[in-house]
Amino acid sequence: MRPKNLKFPFTWEEREPLFYKGILIVPQYYDRHEEWEAPKNLFPSHHPICIEYCSGNGHWVIEKAKKNPLQYWIAVEMQFDRVRKIWSKMHNQAIENLLVVCGEAETFTKYYLSGKSIDEIYVNFPDPWPKDRHAKHRLIQKSFVDELARVIKGEGMVTYVTDDAPYSTQMIEVMLAHPKWKNHFPKPYYVQDWEDYGSSWFKELWHEKGRDFFYMQFRKICS
Ligand SMILES: C[S@@+](CC[C@H](N)C(=O)[O-])C[C@H]1O[C@@H](n2cnc3c(N)ncnc32)[C@H](O)[C@@H]1O
Repeated sequence: MRPKNLKFPFTWEEREPLFYKGILIVPQYYDRHEEWEAPKNLFPSHHPICIEYCSGNGHWVIEKAKKNPLQYWIAVEMQFDRVRKIWSKMHNQAIENLLVVCGEAETFTKYYLSGKSIDEIYVNFPDPWPKDRHAKHRLIQKSFVDELARVIKGEGMVTYVTDDAPYSTQMIEVMLAHPKWKNHFPKPYYVQDWEDYGSSWFKELWHEKGRDFFYMQFRKICS
């Protein structure tokens, strides 16, 4: 199965939420998300559910799903060309414990995930939007983190990794200011090595260029 074997299933005008060939398509610029009725058993109730946002071509999440067959994984990626690559890997490697979501992270979380439904959350190398005037596009902002606090189970953890120092500072500030999250790592609130974290296309690229990594973890505060 090649990425190009996955065709986008509708035109812009016909767009609607759709579970199609193992992919959940969450349309953009769409105002009827609330009407979506999930197919029965879309998420298994008897396995821990882990989610990776910003999955890119899916290298990291495919390895996680393969190594942890008793966990159910969700890969969230908004670019269809990258979703196709994850989909083709999933089929060629016969991975059955993965749902690929083609959609925007906050929209998917807000409208398609129930409260207290997710065991582990990862955001790996989200786009850093390095220019000040573009910083508003960064994913890790209070409104998204509110949603993460809603969907995580118990005292579950969220893990972020970036190679961008200013973005890591923003992530830490947003999380420490949030009433529902506390730091897992002591000050400076990140570690720079995590031996068995897993690899991804961007991690390899930045490693070759000698960039530093910032791994951060935060635990939900249960009150
Ligand atoms: C820098 S790449 C990292 C990809 C992958 N995690 C890796 O390490 O190779 C960031 C990815 O996040 C996706 N992305 C950015 N913002 C997103 C959002 N709000 N919702 C879903 N995906 C997003 C982009 O399309 C891109 O594929």
